[in-house]
Amino acid sequence: MTIPQAATVRPYRPEDRAAVFRIAADTAFFGEPIEAYFEDRHLFCDAFYSYYTDLEPENGWVACAEGRVIGFIVGSTDTKAYQRRLMRHILPPMVLRFLRGAYHPGPQAWRYLRALAAAAVHREFPHADLDRYPAHLHINLEAGWRGYGLGRRLMEAFIQRLKSMNVPGVHLHTTSMNRAACGLYRSCGFDLLDSRVTRIWAHLIREPIENRCYGLTLTCER
Ligand SMILES: CC(C)(COP(=O)(O)OP(=O)(O)OC[C@H]1O[C@@H](n2cnc3c(N)ncnc32)[C@H](O)[C@@H]1OP(=O)(O)O)[C@@H](O)C(=O)NCCC(=O)NCCS
Repeated sequence: MTIPQAATVRPYRPEDRAAVFRIAADTAFFGEPIEAYFEDRHLFCDAFYSYYTDLEPENGWVACAEGRVIGFIVGSTDTKAYQRRLMRHILPPMVLRFLRGAYHPGPQAWRYLRALAAAAVHREFPHADLDRYPAHLHINLEAGWRGYGLGRRLMEAFIQRLKSMNVPGVHLHTTSMNRAACGLYRSCGFDLLDSRVTRIWAHLIREPIENRCYGLTLTCER
């Protein structure tokens, strides 16, 4: 398909942060706005996206059209380091903000957090070997800009960066409900590494949903 308006893909800049957060929240419920299951988009973005924009901005790209950001890919080259730095640099200030009343999770958010905890206990999260696939990513486009090849262009920019850094592999987590995403990952050469049926969404969606983990082995440039 051809893009209706010229769109570009360029490296992430600090001034893109608010647009990345907006798109992350607008697409968090299988491509739809997060308010379907979580009332506080600031809490969600601080927890799940501020690491990438604030601590690994050099590994982000944005898609732009009509003079604004309409999509992004962000990620980490080293998931073990990401986990350590998240605990050290992102979570403590978030706890302080929470205690000061800056976040407003409602009943849906608490329900979601309880469902996440239950899913962890019941081993509903698929596994990736972080030695083989140390990098990970998140990719999202605004609703009106999907299906025009921009997801592939963002993915190519991110993968090129990983190859230039000799990163041996990349993985990502998604679900069977993210059908375009699963199609993109397969068409970019990712393999399905692991999948587990989950009950996280059972109160909102009737059909059974799988958590999926895809991985791609990278051949380095040198
Ligand atoms: C997933 C997403 C980033 C893909 O980007 P995109 O620009 O729509 O995808 P592209 O146009 O680059 O398509 C690339 C490939 O993905 C696959 N694909 C795209 N849309 C698809 C769809 N609706 N169903 C199945 N496969 C699809 C195709 O294999 C396609 O290759 P082809 O054009 O050669 O057939 C985008 O659709 C999106 O943001 N979706 C909502 C949010 C989301 O699910 N994010 C991922 C969370 S894990």
